Parts: sequence; structure tokens; C-alpha cells
Amino acid sequence: MNNHFPKLAMAKFSEQFKGQKLQSMHNTNPKPFGQYELEQTIGMSFSEILQDVNLGFAPDAGTVGLRNTLAHHHYEIIESDEIITHAGAQEALFCVFSALLKPKDRVLIVAPVFEPLVQIPLNMKCHVSYLQLDNENNWSLNFDEVEAEFIKGCQLFVINFPHNPTGATLSRQELLKLVNLCKKYDVWLLSDEVFRGLEHSLNLRLPAVADYYDKGISVGVISKAFAIPGIRIGWLACQNEQLRKKIIDVKGYLSICNSQLDEKLAAVLLQKPEKLLERNLEIIVKNKPLLKEIKELCKSSINIAIPHAGCCVFAEIKNGNLSAGELAKQLALKTGYLLYPSSLFKTKTQALRIGFGTAEFSRFVKLSSLA
Ligand SMILES: Cc1ncc(COP(=O)(O)O)c(C=O)c1O
Repeated sequence: MNNHFPKLAMAKFSEQFKGQKLQSMHNTNPKPFGQYELEQTIGMSFSEILQDVNLGFAPDAGTVGLRNTLAHHHYEIIESDEIITHAGAQEALFCVFSALLKPKDRVLIVAPVFEPLVQIPLNMKCHVSYLQLDNENNWSLNFDEVEAEFIKGCQLFVINFPHNPTGATLSRQELLKLVNLCKKYDVWLLSDEVFRGLEHSLNLRLPAVADYYDKGISVGVISKAFAIPGIRIGWLACQNEQLRKKIIDVKGYLSICNSQLDEKLAAVLLQKPEKLLERNLEIIVKNKPLLKEIKELCKSSINIAIPHAGCCVFAEIKNGNLSAGELAKQLALKTGYLLYPSSLFKTKTQALRIGFGTAEFSRFVKLSSLA
């Protein structure tokens, strides 16, 4: 059998716990909405939204309704025909990499990294270089390192701010500086923006790179910042028509098109992004003091940089004898909570990813301080 798609380390890690009743405490999205709560939040019922939906195949780039919603409510300059909808961000990413890259192309990636962002180019036999962020520097990006890598040669730079797994983010000025560096060295910029909107204060809200760069690609999804993973809708925005055409060709091998029901629901729900984000940020802001509590309680064993965006942290393990993977296993056995170890994120840092976007987080804080 071919090994073009080796099992992701995330899946391998979780497999060892199959059959055990563990609670995930590594999630990067806030607690998912239920239907009733969602209907209350947007002031409309699913049955009102789904009246007389066309149940034929959707257009390959996505329905006009959803693309209009995204263009009007999520971007400044991007127009609806510069958006393609996908079955999740995951499909959008796969299509971008497949359309843009060929073997031996040089790809630069910020690490620690959400595994598919690096594994897809590795599977395609690209040369991947990492820009390692570290906890001591508050997970901040070193622009001199970025430029040095661009000088060596780079076809594609992959960023993901707000960042999974550290919760790090950039300022608006920093993001625009990155865009300018990409323009200067003619590098494509793939910006995974699935946590855009979860910045803890409005003045930290990042722009979308697709609005600012004709070789910038912005990827979004309804599952993460908006906390509705049960509707399988992601999208990408890109000004470059040639790339969009290639992406549609790749999508033809995958979902071909999304479910019309999902597209219709997303088209209406995403007209009110602020209402969805408000509910999610409320949970995050409520739990942030607990994060400070756990940082203080466990300060002899872990080091946490309190984030300004998203709802996950990468807790660095101090002078431990155990690897992060072993520690995650032991914590799972003792507390019943599953965290993700750093071995899943292409980094040498020994750390655990902890999600703090659910009400359950307070119970976890209590139990882990006893463990
Ligand atoms: C940074 C990042 N990008 C993309 C995705 C994929 O999102 P989805 O599985 O909803 O397509 C995830 C999921 O965790 C993620 O963390």
C-alpha cells in the first residue's frame, strides 16, 4: 500500500486511548453551540432559515449566498467571486497546498504548528523550514529570521495567527510588515485565520491577508472562532484568479461541492459574526482568571504565557523527567482529561496544549491542582 498519507501524529496519539472515557481538554475552539442556543443567539430558527433550500448540487466554488455573506461581513476588499467554500478549513488547506506547490518547493512554517499545515507539504516532498517560536520570548515572531529565510529562497510562507497551539498573535502593524516582506521577496502567504475574531479585545483584531496582498490566501472556518463544528463549512479568499481556478480543479477530486443545507445555514449564521463571537469571548474572558490560577498553582512544574487571543495555551513543562507525551498519558489516567503533547506540533519544547474555552475547564483546574 502507498504511504503518501501517513497517519497524522494527532490521530496516532489519540488512538492509544480508544475505548477509554476521557474528556478532551485540548480543544482549540470554544464550547460548540447547540441548535437551541444558536437559534436564540441569532434570533432565527433553523426551520425559518432552511425554507425551500435547493437540494441539488451546489456550485463548485460555493453558493452565491454564502460567498456574499463572507465577502460583506468578513472581508474589507475581497469580493464574493474571490471566495471558494470548502468542507472545513482542512479541505481548503489541502487544496491550496496541492494547487500551489510541487516537489522540492521551499515552504517556511511557523512552529509549533497545527500538524496538517506542515504534513501536507511534507507529503508533497517539499523542503520545509521552521521558524520556531519559544515561550521565553512570549511566542513572538522574529522578523529578521523571516527575512533571512526569504533571502535563502522561499515559495510559500505559512502563518496561523491567532496561533494554535500557543494563543500567540501579531499586532496589525506586525501582520502588515509581514505582508510587505512577502511582497518584497515575492513569496506567497498562506494565512490560516481560523481563530480570527477570538482576539480578547477588539483593538487586537487582525485583518485578513487576502485583503492586503494579491498573493495572500486567507483561510477561515465556522468550526473554530465561531464554535459551530457540526456545520462543515470552511472557505478561502484569494485575489489571484489563476490560483482559484487550480484550487477548484483540486476540489473536484475531494468534496466537489458542499452540502446546500450547510451552505444555507452558514450563509445566514455568518451574517452575524459579532453575535457568535460575543458568546464565545464571554466564555473565554470568564475562564481567563482560572488560567492565571492554574499558572500560579502549578508554577513549580509548568510555565504558561497568558494569551491575548484564542482559547488554548501551550504550557511548557519545567525541568521534568517525563516527556510531554508521558505526562499527558499520566494526567489522562489520573484525571480523565486528555491534553495534547508538544510532540504533535513539530517543536522541541516540552509542553502540553490546554484548551480553556469550556465550562468544564474549572473542574479541570481543580483536579489538576490536586494531581
Ligand atoms: C490552525 C487550524 N487550522 C485549520 C484547522 C481545521 O479546521 P477544521 O477541522 O474545522 O476544518 C484547525 C483545526 O483544529 C486548526 O487548528
